[in-house]
Amino acid sequence: METLIREALGARKYAYAPYSGFLVGAALECRDGTVYTGCNIENASYSPSNCAERTAFFKAVSEGRRDFCRIAIVGGKEGEMTAPVPCGVCLQVMSEFCQAEKFEIILAKSETEFEVKKLEELLPCRFSL
Ligand code: THU
Repeated sequence: METLIREALGARKYAYAPYSGFLVGAALECRDGTVYTGCNIENASYSPSNCAERTAFFKAVSEGRRDFCRIAIVGGKEGEMTAPVPCGVCLQVMSEFCQAEKFEIILAKSETEFEVKKLEELLPCRFSL
């Protein structure tokens, strides 16, 4: 758990968030232990911005991975940490590739202060075709 949070903290260093000032890092773990990291990437036109969680998912899926067990997320303004809850869009992306009753979402303030939620708790109703 602590190692995964450390990876998320490392990814947060690359966050590009000049508009909100809110820096987020995520570390997504596959079942074989491989980790894909992501940060939020904002844009002057706002809507093309991407959250850290989706960056990590899209990196992993674009490299052929679909077998995820958990994701650690850290975030906050420069010099503070708030353990952000993923937005609805990111939760829906997670639900595309993960079993909601199994996939764990680690909301972390630091390597030792965190809360673990299941995807089904954060997104009880999911869209599917
Ligand atoms: N953000 C994330 O990357 N993940 C979250 O879980 C919450 C919000 C980003 C989006 C935007 O760049 C900034 O944080 C403020 O909303």
